[in-house]
Amino acid sequence: MAKLTLNRAKELLQKHVSEAHLFTHALAVSAAMGAMAAHFGEDVEHWQAIGYLHDVDFEKFPEEHCLHVRELLDGEGVEEDDIVAILSHGYGLCTNEVEPTTPLMKSLFTVDELTGIVMAAALMRPTGISDMEVKSLKKKFKDKGFAAKCDRAVIQQGCEMLGMPLDEVMAIVIAGMQTQTEALGIGPKA
Ligand SMILES: [Fe+2]
Repeated sequence: MAKLTLNRAKELLQKHVSEAHLFTHALAVSAAMGAMAAHFGEDVEHWQAIGYLHDVDFEKFPEEHCLHVRELLDGEGVEEDDIVAILSHGYGLCTNEVEPTTPLMKSLFTVDELTGIVMAAALMRPTGISDMEVKSLKKKFKDKGFAAKCDRAVIQQGCEMLGMPLDEVMAIVIAGMQTQTEALGIGPKA
């Protein structure tokens, strides 16, 4: 068995997901994970692939998210480590099965929520994500009414697990998502 590739992750997500917003979220998390991998000097494509596939069971099992990851990926040639990494993003949220213990897991746990705030903030700005600064993103982060579904406590907990300040993680996530500006639809408004 080989490490999950981004192409394989895309094929697998396509099998189980149809809603456009879930593909957008997959891409945002994938881009953010790639930037986190680069930060840690790890395998960028592998982290992107895990990010892309992490919500594979969400559309089919919204009420039992994470609990069906294993059955959907069984027999698909996905390594156990990769399945476990995906399971860990729901730690304390939808499953306590796997605690995030590696930089990859901790990153996934953190950027899953953080990319939601970045997307919402970018969509509101005339210039999109192109010149987004950490300072303005932090204002949105502190405004609890903004993108209220994105759980700030989870993001803070994730940064603590990573041992990284929120500002640093934000800068990495912005830079990662900027690489997918067009596909994410968060460029400057015409
Ligand atoms: Fe997610």
